[in-house]
Amino acid sequence: MDDTWKLGTRKGLPKDQLFLTDKHPRGTWKSQPALAGIGEIWLGNHDYFRAISKRIGAQLLRLREEAETSYDSGPALRRHISSLLGGLDGHHRVEDHHYFPMFQRAEPRLVRGFEILDADHHMIHDAIDELAAATQDTLRRLGQTEGVMTGDQRRAVDDLAASVDRVAPILRQHLADEEDIVIPLILERARQDPEFG
Ligand SMILES: [Fe+2]
Ligand SMILES: [Fe+2]
Repeated sequence: MDDTWKLGTRKGLPKDQLFLTDKHPRGTWKSQPALAGIGEIWLGNHDYFRAISKRIGAQLLRLREEAETSYDSGPALRRHISSLLGGLDGHHRVEDHHYFPMFQRAEPRLVRGFEILDADHHMIHDAIDELAAATQDTLRRLGQTEGVMTGDQRRAVDDLAASVDRVAPILRQHLADEEDIVIPLILERARQDPEFG
């Protein structure tokens, strides 16, 4: 894969992969009945990943600013990060094995776009592995205490925040670019075949 289109490096998708996006720009999606079903579920999943990432970032920021832990600080981080990582793993699995092949068969002109999105998944999964390891390490160092954090606890939170900061922007870019290809395709096809998806 050409590095020009690498996640975190590229500025948007190749123009020739956006012909359906031009026909169905983002602002028009919600008003289209063809979004119902798979399109709505897709956007709902993506919104959940964005929301939970934001929540993890906000929780880490609060911990760093207050420099105090509560008994639930570690367990709450574990819950939210597990939910994000587990959800993403399942979501990408369904995309890789079911939807991407089906969409490429339905619209061969978008094969290149799906190859780019598939490469994104590999990159995100490497980042996820790193985040999972950082989470384990941080939670072990954070322990379950209440009160002012020790130097090591603060450094543990800083390390986890750095790891989250590496994943969050590439995840946001992937979700947005994927929507720009997938949602217009769903809108286009669902109008012709309501069973599409
Ligand atoms: Fe994806
Ligand atoms: Fe997705």
